[in-house]
Amino acid sequence: MKVTICVGSTCHLLGSRTVVERFKALVEEHQLQDRVELSGKFCMGKCGEGVCVTIDDVTHIIQKEEAEEFFNREILAKAV
Ligand code: FES
Repeated sequence: MKVTICVGSTCHLLGSRTVVERFKALVEEHQLQDRVELSGKFCMGKCGEGVCVTIDDVTHIIQKEEAEEFFNREILAKAV
């Protein structure tokens, strides 16, 4: 599973660093290193409402506060 987090300037201001840190920690915690490939990418062209995250090319817009809940629902649940 390929998870890409936007680190462009708007997403950065909306907390993409927090999302990256959270996702990294959760991947380690659940030992998903072999199943989840995390990467960053500059502006994905959907700035504004939250942090842009793509999972296998499907785009999601999330708030930094919901990073863990999103991870559990969209990544953990599908990666195991
Ligand atoms: S800065 Fe993230 S979509 Fe533009």
